[in-house]
Amino acid sequence: MKTYMTIEDTIGNTPLVRLQRIPGSLAQERGNVILAKLEGNNPAGSVKDRPAASMIRRAEARGEIKPGDTLIEATSGNTGIALAMVAAIRGYRMILIMPDNLSLERRASMAAYGAELILTKASDGGMEYARDLAMKMQAEGKGKVLDQFANPDNFQAHIDTTGPELWEQTGGEITHFISAMGTTGTIMGVGMYLRGRNPDIQIIGAQPAEGSQIPGIRKWSTAYQPKIYDPSKVDAFELIEQSKAETMARRLAAEEGIFGGISSAGALIAALRVAERVENATIVFIVCDRGDRYLSTGVFNPAD
Ligand SMILES: Cc1ncc(COP(=O)(O)O)c(C=O)c1O
Repeated sequence: MKTYMTIEDTIGNTPLVRLQRIPGSLAQERGNVILAKLEGNNPAGSVKDRPAASMIRRAEARGEIKPGDTLIEATSGNTGIALAMVAAIRGYRMILIMPDNLSLERRASMAAYGAELILTKASDGGMEYARDLAMKMQAEGKGKVLDQFANPDNFQAHIDTTGPELWEQTGGEITHFISAMGTTGTIMGVGMYLRGRNPDIQIIGAQPAEGSQIPGIRKWSTAYQPKIYDPSKVDAFELIEQSKAETMARRLAAEEGIFGGISSAGALIAALRVAERVENATIVFIVCDRGDRYLSTGVFNPAD
């Protein structure tokens, strides 16, 4: 009998596509290629499907959790949606904690997958407060925290899948890899894998500039820096202004037909800055999620 995939089997193996217009002379005259890795094509709509599946599967394999258990996570959105999907597939109860200033689509998507939501007041301290509350609930025996910020199974997902895919898809020609930084799982895992294949590949992180709010990414204070983060694995950082990222997200959709989120556009801005400094480079940036996820914020119709 023919065997069929489950929805979980469709995580990963996302397309890598070339930008055709935005790079302009940075491509034509300087010989650079700028490629977008379309992580919004994952089944729950973001790069986070990979670590969510990795964290749950590996904890299960180690016997730390079993279907029917309760999982708790503090999440800025995409991880919550991804965990809610994987929990639904594998039969876990999922409690998600997040600040109340995150977009409505995100909350609704998590609820659709059957997760229970705890909204904390953004004024109480945003993600830092949500992370502390998750740990407190775990200490009270209310469930198991996967802790994407400290869990090596987060970046392992990218060592196992995203990194090898990029190496394969570029035929080993990739010279620069750029990712926006949240938990830093993507940049750590992909960076480790690619440097293992070719130590000359440059790993570049995009972070919000001082005073800028870009959903999903942060320039963490030292006390809250993710435990999985190792600065020696990143070659350079680009600080991105919120308004420039929002403008670029609109351009990416309107000029390239790639409807991505704001942090993805931030990574593209970083990629274009790199392209100004180099020649004949193959530059890959991550499109972390889809623009649909931000419609209610009005960022795609600024004239309204
Ligand atoms: C929209 C968005 N962009 C970028 C990232 C960064 O990914 P990572 O956590 O792997 O650093 C996230 C993480 O949650 C995100 O939600």
